[in-house]
Amino acid sequence: MLECNWRDGKWETTHIKPYGPIQVEPSCKVFHYGQAIFEGMKAYKDEAGDVFLFRPEDNWKRFNESAKRLAMPEVPYEVFVEGLKTLVNLDKEWVKYGEGLSLYLRPFMIASENGVAAAPSTEYKFMIVMSPAFAYYRGEVRVIIANQFSRAADGGVGYAKAAGNYAASFYPNNLAMEEGYQQIIWTDAASHEYIEEAGTMNIFVRIGDKLLTAPSNDRILNGVTRRSVIQMAKDHGIEVEERRIRVSEIKEAAQNGELKEIFGSGTAAVIVPIKGFKHEDFKYELPVIENDYATNIKAALMDIQYNRTEDKHGWRVKI
Ligand SMILES: Cc1ncc(COP(=O)(O)O)c(C=O)c1O
Repeated sequence: MLECNWRDGKWETTHIKPYGPIQVEPSCKVFHYGQAIFEGMKAYKDEAGDVFLFRPEDNWKRFNESAKRLAMPEVPYEVFVEGLKTLVNLDKEWVKYGEGLSLYLRPFMIASENGVAAAPSTEYKFMIVMSPAFAYYRGEVRVIIANQFSRAADGGVGYAKAAGNYAASFYPNNLAMEEGYQQIIWTDAASHEYIEEAGTMNIFVRIGDKLLTAPSNDRILNGVTRRSVIQMAKDHGIEVEERRIRVSEIKEAAQNGELKEIFGSGTAAVIVPIKGFKHEDFKYELPVIENDYATNIKAALMDIQYNRTEDKHGWRVKI
């Protein structure tokens, strides 16, 4: 694991050491005010044994946007990106080769000052831990489109990868799971009329041959996979619209047979096809179709990640 501490207004020397417990005091600010942010990314191995990161600078930039919103110090490129490369290089053997296999990378930062005054910490701990990973979601995914709970509000922290965003989603998600649904597609907090994103995925809807996704805003995490899917779709000649999507539009398209696919995008599983959804009393099972966008775009993206194809957008970074 990698560790770098912020004290007296600056980042100290970065250390890499074996994974193990860290010592913090009970008054450590992260426990009381939730100043904690993270990123999620992966390292992939190709057939020749070379290891690659996927768009790591995008994660670094997003991490620092999260840091800014949570009143935390930004982490320099050398600590985050160069640190990642050094760490992954040391543990290259843990990046397993095979379809869907990867080394999951978890950079995170916590407020580490002791004291329970409700004010930003003056000390922070940035760390990176890693774990070999299989594909994250297995089995069929059905979702509830939210009409009561909200994930994020205007002017809030929805666009940041703040730990508290996830804590707040667990209870509604547990209720959804009790009903037999694996995920919630969140809707805008103000009206619950427009879809936003799901647990750890951005959402795409295919109506006819057009691919729709909600625009990124201050409530939605601007996914690296989302941006990659949009680019790949365009490269494949698919029309993509980034615009607000009404729940009623999805339901109408379902009723008139125009709704072809719904899928989520995220680092964990690249693309997750949604098999069915529920909104209030309306339940719908997506049709099984040939030559679907989800499968094609996922394959195209994984070919880039695993160094099986040309990387014309320069997304791969060799370790
Ligand atoms: C809330 C949320 N939305 C979307 C995503 C997808 O983002 P990315 O494609 O960068 O993994 C994630 C994280 O993985 C997430 O936590």
